[in-house]
Amino acid sequence: MTSPAGLLVARGRFGLPGASVAARASQFKLDAALWMFEHAGSSFKKCWRGIFMLKLTAVLLFAHAACAAAHAQDAAAGGEIYKEKCAECHGPRMASTGGAADLRELKGDERARFDKAVKEGKGQMPSWDGMLTPEEIDQIWAYQRTRSKD
Ligand code: HEC
Repeated sequence: MTSPAGLLVARGRFGLPGASVAARASQFKLDAALWMFEHAGSSFKKCWRGIFMLKLTAVLLFAHAACAAAHAQDAAAGGEIYKEKCAECHGPRMASTGGAADLRELKGDERARFDKAVKEGKGQMPSWDGMLTPEEIDQIWAYQRTRSKD
């Protein structure tokens, strides 16, 4: 072990004697990292910054891919519900054959209009309230987004 003087210095560095071992250890790691960073050349700093940015980009890319996959799944499920419940009037793949509204015309900011028509019904179309779960309505909307003209 170190001399009493060394211990004193160490105590000063690790904070109060009452602090937990884990807290002292993490403080030490932080000190060491800061020390290395302060004393490192600029290319070393750039390298670390580069790694940090790379990690951040990787995380964002991963999150984006995960969300895109989830969205594709929703749209696929919505397509199935559409085929079963809506296609006879609105046409295959939302391409109207003239009978009912062409749902491809709905724009991205018309979700409220879509919800209102589905929940309350519109013209010749009866309400779908209680026949579709909120999740199913979300899925049909996700499908609409893949079929939309906008
Ligand atoms: C029995 C035929 C029929 C079925 C089945 C049907 N619809 Fe319709 N729907 C219509 C008609 C007709 C209109 C046009 C009403 C009007 O504008 O007067 C319409 C309108 C709509 C509108 C409004 C479009 C707009 O431009 O505002 C939405 C949204 C819609 N339907 C969604 C659906 C969804 C989702 C399903 C399946 C769950 C579905 N419809 C099933 C006949 C149908």
